[in-house]
Amino acid sequence: MTRTMHLWGIFSVATIITVLSYVILTETDRQETATAKIQAQAVTAATDLYAENCVSCHGASGEGILSTPPLNSDALRMMDEESILKTIARGRYGTTMAAWSVDEGGVLSNSAITQLVTFIYHADWEAVSARVAALGLTPPEPVVVEISPETMTQIQALPDGASLANGLTLYTENCVACHGTAIAPTLNSEDLRSRLTDDDLTRIIREGVAGTLMAGWSNILSETEVTDLVNFIRNYPVLETAGITLPTAPPPIAVEMTPELIAEGGRLFGILCVQCHGVNGYGTQIAPALNAQPFLDDTPDSALAQIIANGVPGTKMPAWGGYLSESDVLAITAYIRSWAPTAPPTVGN
Ligand code: HEC
Ligand code: HEC
Ligand code: HEC
Repeated sequence: MTRTMHLWGIFSVATIITVLSYVILTETDRQETATAKIQAQAVTAATDLYAENCVSCHGASGEGILSTPPLNSDALRMMDEESILKTIARGRYGTTMAAWSVDEGGVLSNSAITQLVTFIYHADWEAVSARVAALGLTPPEPVVVEISPETMTQIQALPDGASLANGLTLYTENCVACHGTAIAPTLNSEDLRSRLTDDDLTRIIREGVAGTLMAGWSNILSETEVTDLVNFIRNYPVLETAGITLPTAPPPIAVEMTPELIAEGGRLFGILCVQCHGVNGYGTQIAPALNAQPFLDDTPDSALAQIIANGVPGTKMPAWGGYLSESDVLAITAYIRSWAPTAPPTVGN
């Protein structure tokens, strides 16, 4: 009798355990499904936030543009949530990475920022780039210069040719847009070569020149790449002696103020400027209104183009010159100018 009860007891305990673990397991399952669902929703919502606010600098597939770092990297996914959250919420002091949190004068709620953090860990960047394209927000390609295969072969045949060729490639990808135009001094001058040692060049390329458009490249270029660039800058005369013509950026194009140009400027403004300067340039907490009579009266076209190309160093206003072609800059200038007849007499924001 007692033994049967004992057995029954064991049996019931076993049953309870089985039932309980079943409940616990399905509950974990359920929670996991719920978490996955919340995560998927966050990623979807954040894709549009990303398209509207971040593509202009970090690229349609998170690949990074010019000296702006990529967001699609394993290195970033290894970073803890708190650090990524802080970077987006508070920005990075002294860089064009603005503080996006409303608490810091930005335009994004804290829940939007949390969604962006989840997005950075879990985004499918191919899908992001497709969504960005569907929204018409794919940023223009940075100014690029082609080097002919013949030139490359010629350079590779020189002593230390592999390094020089790599330096030239890096130069055309990253530097010519500014250094091959009026935006920045030429890197091919006797003055530069006598004034700056290899160590100076390395430091300038890595750290940039504070308060100017010259950003630091240490996050973007590897040690070897910097060395190849220094080698290339130092050996310009060798390349010239070998009869190699060096690339310059495409010459500036003079454009008239046409409806097409204004429309193109509006399109670019919608991609690159609206997140800071607001819809129709009415301003946000991040950046001043541009659609305002006093500003438009005081700022001639040449000054507008200059500000757009060079940015306002030491503020969140990026320099677009290394990124937009001259005609893009003129299109945006034309678009901003087109507000003049209807601009509010005072800043309404
Ligand atoms: C105007 C250009 C610009 C825009 C727009 C911009 N960023 Fe950035 N972002 C930068 C720059 C420049 C850096 C690198 C700052 C530094 O050197 O530390 C950066 C860094 C970051 C980093 C840290 C990357 C790392 O590897 O440490 C994250 C994360 C980031 N941005 C997210 C965003 C998100 C999300 C948005 C949109 C809400 C955004 N950024 C919009 C320019 C921009
Ligand atoms: C967005 C424009 C821009 C880009 C892109 C750019 N630079 Fe610069 N760079 C400048 C400006 C402007 C200066 C001058 C800063 C000053 O006034 O001291 C400069 C200065 C320099 C100097 C010092 C020149 C001197 O005579 O003292 C070097 C070296 C240099 N850049 C190398 C590079 C290299 C290499 C790259 C590509 C990896 C690059 N820069 C990309 C704008 C740019
Ligand atoms: C990351 C935010 C940000 C983005 C993106 C941005 N700007 Fe700005 N812009 C600013 C800030 C901040 C200022 C004010 C700088 C200062 O304090 O002088 C400014 C200033 C300006 C000014 C001068 C305004 C004045 O009152 O002197 C012009 C013109 C301008 N921006 C045009 C543009 C254009 C055109 C674009 C897009 C191609 C653009 N900005 C994108 C932040 C931004």
